[in-house]
Amino acid sequence: MKLAIIGAGNVGGTLGKAWAQKAGHEIFFGVRDAKSEKTQSLLRALGPKARAGSAAEAAAFGEMIVLATPWPATETAIRAMGDLKGRIVLDSTNPLTRGPDGIGLEIGHAISAGEKVQGWAAGASVFKTLNSTGFGNMANPVFNGVKSVMFVAGDDEANKPKVMQLVGELGFDMVDAGPLRNARLLEAHAMLWIDLSLARGLGRDWAFARVKR
Ligand SMILES: NC(=O)c1ccc[n+]([C@@H]2O[C@H](COP(=O)([O-])OP(=O)(O)OC[C@H]3O[C@@H](n4cnc5c(N)ncnc54)[C@H](OP(=O)(O)O)[C@@H]3O)[C@@H](O)[C@H]2O)c1
Repeated sequence: MKLAIIGAGNVGGTLGKAWAQKAGHEIFFGVRDAKSEKTQSLLRALGPKARAGSAAEAAAFGEMIVLATPWPATETAIRAMGDLKGRIVLDSTNPLTRGPDGIGLEIGHAISAGEKVQGWAAGASVFKTLNSTGFGNMANPVFNGVKSVMFVAGDDEANKPKVMQLVGELGFDMVDAGPLRNARLLEAHAMLWIDLSLARGLGRDWAFARVKR
């Protein structure tokens, strides 16, 4: 599949590598400077299945668009892509801010980044996913044979299975987390992972998994 990934940092770069190398997808990174050494070295590592250009060029290429931009840059990046009506957008962002108590969520409970993204990407099908674990776990989501969990929240039930399939190819245990408004829960869940990892000593090399009877 042809994928647009907007942002080629920790998350975008990791996802691009994993989807190109594990699943054979073609990747077009939408970045601010395609000629930067960072982007060029990522492209060299990925080989012929990857290229880079502007966010608008990436969006024109991709069958699905994955947002992997810092929260403050996300509205600008979405607007740079132009009309996204009818497009499938996977939103991995978390609305992080730094306050007196360290990293926290800028918004939550009453609205989410996922819903803001839906407002900016008018007419698109937005799915909140790939936000609730560290980028290292996106490269390797399996722990001692156990798949870590990844949620997908979105309102477009017709396209949700496609999104779950694509994210599941990374190796996650996929769970349908309901409508897009549940991004409020997924972003809080991400914040729990971040807090435990960075402020409570768990480090980044662990993940949530689902057990059941
Ligand atoms: N890090 C994690 O483990 C993790 C896990 C889950 C979710 N997230 C979320 O994923 C998002 C990305 O995080 P990250 O850690 O990957 O950040 P990052 O390493 O800083 O990468 C962000 C990327 O976005 C690019 N960018 C910035 N503004 C842009 C614009 N207007 N158009 C296109 N690209 C733009 C940056 O390019 P430049 O190099 O030009 O600045 C960079 O390539 C954040 O919202 C974060 O909350 C992160």
